[in-house]
Amino acid sequence: MNSWQQRFDDRIMRSMGMPLAKLERGEGAWVWDDAGNRYLDFLAGIAVNSLGHAHPVFVEAVATQAGRLAHVSNYFMTEPALELAERITRLAGAGDSGRAWFGNSGAEANEAAFKLARLNNSGGGRTRVLALVDAFHGRTMGSLALTGKAHMRDPFEPLPGGVEHISGDDRGARGIRRRRRRRAHRRTHPGRGRGRRVARWVPRVGA
Ligand SMILES: Cc1ncc(COP(=O)(O)O)c(C=O)c1O
Repeated sequence: MNSWQQRFDDRIMRSMGMPLAKLERGEGAWVWDDAGNRYLDFLAGIAVNSLGHAHPVFVEAVATQAGRLAHVSNYFMTEPALELAERITRLAGAGDSGRAWFGNSGAEANEAAFKLARLNNSGGGRTRVLALVDAFHGRTMGSLALTGKAHMRDPFEPLPGGVEHISGDDRGARGIRRRRRRRAHRRTHPGRGRGRRVARWVPRVGA
């Protein structure tokens, strides 16, 4: 182990394996590690860093906001939050009834989708949620309940109930049709949650 790996091992919980490198800086789609090696950043923070690294417009926008106001909690509103919600709902074609929900992570987004399905369960009878075998949806308790990977789930059982994992192939599709007759909630991660096979039947998100 080199010295940063040792420091990592000493002080950071092992929720994942050892990081692949210690990165120092980035520029656009390039990143550099602490030994000066340059890499093309295909991972982009696992597909969330679409603006790349250190673009001057991005840096200026973040610095301007940081110089004006930091986090204000959900008891207050700010102009950038309003503008972002308006732009997201417009780009999503959400219509007049569309609303944005802001979270901090993918796991929280899936947690929110799980909760919205429960909230929308017409009188409490439709509590079952279907998720795909092998899919990854995050590591909070709710999103872990949706995650279809036993080695991630098992150490944290019991997880929130009502989730059933089905395969992403035709067997799963037949199961879905059977379950539709029983009026189950259907749920798949918007990006299929890294599940193994691309399902031909991928249903709408939600009920
Ligand atoms: C498919 C998928 N869903 C959910 C998540 C969870 O996102 P986050 O790490 O932002 O909580 C990830 C993260 O890697 C992911 O790849």
